[in-house]
Amino acid sequence: MSEQILIIDFGSQYTQLIARRVRELNVYCEIHPYNNLPEKINNLKGVILSGSPCSVREEDAPDVNLDAFRGNIPVLGVCYGAQLLVQQNNGSVVPSKIREYGRARLEKMDQHYDLLKEMNPGNQVWMSHGDTISKLPGNFTNIASTEDVTNAAFKIEGENTYGIQFHPEVTHTEEGKILLRNFVVHICGCKQDWTPDIFVESTVANLKETLGNDKVVLGLSGGVDSSVAAMLIHRAIGKNLYCIFVDNGLLRKNEFEDVLHSYKDMGLNVKGVDTKDAFYKALEGLTDPEDKRKAIGRTFIEIFDDEAQKIKNVRWLAQGTIYPDVIESVSVKGPSATIKSHHNVGGLPEKMNLKVVEPLNTLFKDEVRRVGRALELDGNILNRHPFPGPGLGIRIIGDVTAEKVRILQEVDHIFINGLKERGHYDEVWQALAVLLPIQSVGVMGDERTYENVVALRAVGSLDGMTADWSKLPYDFLSDISNKIINNVKEVNRIVYDISSKPPATIEWE
Ligand code: XMP
Repeated sequence: MSEQILIIDFGSQYTQLIARRVRELNVYCEIHPYNNLPEKINNLKGVILSGSPCSVREEDAPDVNLDAFRGNIPVLGVCYGAQLLVQQNNGSVVPSKIREYGRARLEKMDQHYDLLKEMNPGNQVWMSHGDTISKLPGNFTNIASTEDVTNAAFKIEGENTYGIQFHPEVTHTEEGKILLRNFVVHICGCKQDWTPDIFVESTVANLKETLGNDKVVLGLSGGVDSSVAAMLIHRAIGKNLYCIFVDNGLLRKNEFEDVLHSYKDMGLNVKGVDTKDAFYKALEGLTDPEDKRKAIGRTFIEIFDDEAQKIKNVRWLAQGTIYPDVIESVSVKGPSATIKSHHNVGGLPEKMNLKVVEPLNTLFKDEVRRVGRALELDGNILNRHPFPGPGLGIRIIGDVTAEKVRILQEVDHIFINGLKERGHYDEVWQALAVLLPIQSVGVMGDERTYENVVALRAVGSLDGMTADWSKLPYDFLSDISNKIINNVKEVNRIVYDISSKPPATIEWE
């Protein structure tokens, strides 16, 4: 069992970032909401208290009993977490008079304390709080200040408990990684041995034990998550893993055949089912994006269920669920508001009455990629841009027909291949083409045309939550535009999307 750090979540927007930073140190950690902590955590080495949008001065402020931890294992309070430690020990936290938001410089640092080792006085930290600690309790020692915040960092004497009123997890805090390493490695004593190879080894061993000789069914999508989940389970139980890859008619050009080949080369027991027509039929006449998503999701479930029934005595359904999905559903605030029904296979487990196995449900997306690399997953799948479950169905605005899919596949193929040929594919996080329900006038030779408009979009992003449009070179855009218009006769106009997320989203729908 890996050593672990517990992150107690009070609802800060940055909590996931704390987890990512700790894991970048090859130390395993889990986030749990303050009001639903696990009863027992094996091999617990330290606790981090997150920030929060709340104030410790509110009557119903989130609170947690730290008796089991303090004095036994190290504790680090970040922002709200630090203020809570002060409040619980009769110090004082008051509304701050000056703005404590944005950049500040950490000064008057007492570097005898392990938390601040190897950090440089004057380094920039990121503040984001409306309250401030005005008085530390008697046994708390101030160990760093900024110009405006006297109690920027403290230690509780006689125990390994620290508090900081800035955010080490955000990149604006220049030496945040050093501080977190000091806490996790030097103070908690974590060995930093949680690597992709160790993850693979221990996950495969667990899967062997859990699944035994049972049969498992899994839906492959061509994406990284389902592929890595399949490889792990395949390693554990071999041919007892039955993979199904559904051609929903909304994939990219040649993708079904190419990806199916890769899967077979990887030794997976995979069945490809061509059910394009069933999807086109279900989509007939639908124009509302949510209706389209639901029709695609429903059809997928029906087909997958039918196929799974053909395999006798299946006991388990495997899914490529990843950690952010899990945290979302148990977060302090509850599941976040649905902007789109993203999880197109959501209803599958209920419908199929199978036990669910999710070997990636503790990993972030980039960690899934690292595990995929450790498993030597085909580079074409590993480095593929994210692709939505409902595929081209949500990139054709308005109703979807087989002919529109064909047009968009051709356009997308030219765009994506162009990016690959010119070395831009790995520079952008995601690139896509959108077929708009608009025709515009053009001239081709002596003839007037009245054809479709396509929007191209390429974005840079870390996790899809926010994104900026990619500044692809003009000559590249120009060449691609020419190539598309010359080769896809149903298109006579290309536009490039220059909006960021927020306020726009990545997909157009
Ligand atoms: P938006 O358009 O919300 O997209 O900015 C953020 C990221 O999510 C992808 N996306 C999906 N992925 N199933 C998925 O697996 C879906 O239904 C879905 N819808 C959007 C989108 O491509 C982008 O990477």
